[in-house]
Amino acid sequence: MTSVLYRAAEEARLAPSILNTQPWRWEVRGEVLELYCDPARQLEHLDPHGRLMILSCGAALHHARVALAAAGYEPVVERWPDPSQPGLLARIRDCRPRPAGRESLLAYDSIRRRRTDRRPFAGGVRVPAAEVARLAAVAEAEHVRLYPIERADIVYLRYAVRGADTVGAHDEGIADDLRRWTHRGADTGDGVPLGTVVAPVLRPVGVRDFGLGDSAALEPGSGDDRSAEYVVLATDRDEPGDWLTAGEATSAVWLAAISEGLAVSPMSNVVEIPGARVLVRSLLHPPGEPQLVLRLGVAQGHEPPPASPRRTGPEVVDTE
Ligand SMILES: Cc1cc2nc3c(=O)[nH]c(=O)nc-3n(C[C@H](O)[C@H](O)[C@H](O)COP(=O)(O)O)c2cc1C
Repeated sequence: MTSVLYRAAEEARLAPSILNTQPWRWEVRGEVLELYCDPARQLEHLDPHGRLMILSCGAALHHARVALAAAGYEPVVERWPDPSQPGLLARIRDCRPRPAGRESLLAYDSIRRRRTDRRPFAGGVRVPAAEVARLAAVAEAEHVRLYPIERADIVYLRYAVRGADTVGAHDEGIADDLRRWTHRGADTGDGVPLGTVVAPVLRPVGVRDFGLGDSAALEPGSGDDRSAEYVVLATDRDEPGDWLTAGEATSAVWLAAISEGLAVSPMSNVVEIPGARVLVRSLLHPPGEPQLVLRLGVAQGHEPPPASPRRTGPEVVDTE
């Protein structure tokens, strides 16, 4: 069992994370796998409360769950199992054999194909409403609500993003966080590479401005992004436990979207900046606490963006 748990933690390295900080650490102890957050990787200014760090760890936790399910195991997952250890986010134990279902095999297959694709979507091909409803059901199964943004409300999302970008651009600390994680050394195995950031282009709702200007190297292609769909993942409350759950749902929705041939990029600046967050919250009926916005579109069949680096297994997984 130890080697199965180790492999699940290794697969979880491929999970998405804020600025590819990979703010997690795993420990395999016999038949138990523990997930810890790594506060040394928390973004001091962009994420002062650790919301996005914990959301990212939630995505890694879901990736590990998928890897275990695909390997034929159903574990017991305890979230925040020990109040005396706030950094211990989850404990996975008592894995019982259970044949892998079709859904978990599809999700597992998507782990390797998933990328953040920030390029504008081309043409008038919208994500079918039935697909959005299916993704909402996937989120619901993870105890998170998925709200599609109405076409008429997209303008408010645009304002929220613009406001968040303006605040970010004038905040030296946030600009520092962005600079640091977009200019990592060649061998750190983390950070956002220039080749995955799309060159600036006019679109209805901007994607995060990484402050890279023309050095952002990914060709945007011919799309104008008018067919993009925006969904908000939201929880009832806004506590660290909700952030972890929202991260698990982010991974579940994203992997399901990939297996349906969709492309995805998250937009978290609108939840990082309090004013933008209030505006996004006002779009949610029934009310909810926004945790992350996802931009979805039909993948155009061109090459996926390059993969972002990851740290090695021994760097993130400790064994006894
Ligand atoms: C909580 C969270 C917030 C994110 N926020 C943004 C964002 O605002 N803008 C963006 O372009 N990508 C965002 N991302 C995507 C990450 O930058 C991406 O996952 C990371 O660079 C690794 O690349 P990959 O997803 O292609 O493996 C976010 C990811 C997570 C998990």
